[in-house]
Amino acid sequence: MSKSKIVIGNWKMNKSFDEAEDLITTIEESLADYQLETEVVLCPPAIYAELVTDHASLEDSRFYAGLQNVSEYDNGAYTGEVSASMLASMDVDFCIVGHSERRKYFGETDTVVLKKMRQLLDQQLIPVMCCGEILEDRKSGRHQDVVKAQIEATLYELTPEQMERTMVAYEPVWAIGTGETATPAQAQEMLAFIRSLIEKKFGTEVAYNTYILYGGSCNAANALSIFSQPDVDGGLIGGASLKADEFIKIIEAAETAGKDN
Ligand code: 13P
Repeated sequence: MSKSKIVIGNWKMNKSFDEAEDLITTIEESLADYQLETEVVLCPPAIYAELVTDHASLEDSRFYAGLQNVSEYDNGAYTGEVSASMLASMDVDFCIVGHSERRKYFGETDTVVLKKMRQLLDQQLIPVMCCGEILEDRKSGRHQDVVKAQIEATLYELTPEQMERTMVAYEPVWAIGTGETATPAQAQEMLAFIRSLIEKKFGTEVAYNTYILYGGSCNAANALSIFSQPDVDGGLIGGASLKADEFIKIIEAAETAGKDN
């Protein structure tokens, strides 16, 4: 049985309120004519969450609401933080955790990533756990070791039931925002490796059912070749998700790849 694909747009820290509204409306209008199997998730900056949840909650909505980060703590005196229960109370369904930019600029460790995942899972949200190696690790052939360590420190600490509600995104750091994409073969090799790690711990069925996405300079031109790889269940898209026409083409590529699989 083939799986439909998932395309997640990570807007990072971009767009004014008006621009965000325009982008959501344009994506919604563009997708209105499609009968999509592909699931689409939009992850705006947290302050614009309601823009997305308002649209995502419509009966005929073509996309789900996600965010890019969540607090590792419960509610309380944590100035500037946003809790998983707040996300749940706004009908946000997905949340990215452990993005390499958070690991790099905000010192997020695997321990913190795990806490955030547990917060989300407790609130019935779907964590999209990011992993990936830096260029040095790739060049020295340590890329699988690095990703394995990230997976063991996070996913391996989940219960099987929690793992079933978790997604993974492989984002090689050297491919993020650089225009240098992993080749389809590199993406396939790493995603198959990640799936094998999940299989080892949680069994074949959970491993098969887990959504594992590729992210890093994915665009309209390269999406189809990447999404057509057997272990690639979709994409986590940064820059190209900020332009409606480009993002729609990526969704079309996911749809085509999903049907061909
Ligand atoms: P780009 O698509 O801009 O390379 O970003 C990828 C990413 O980090 C998505 O989370």
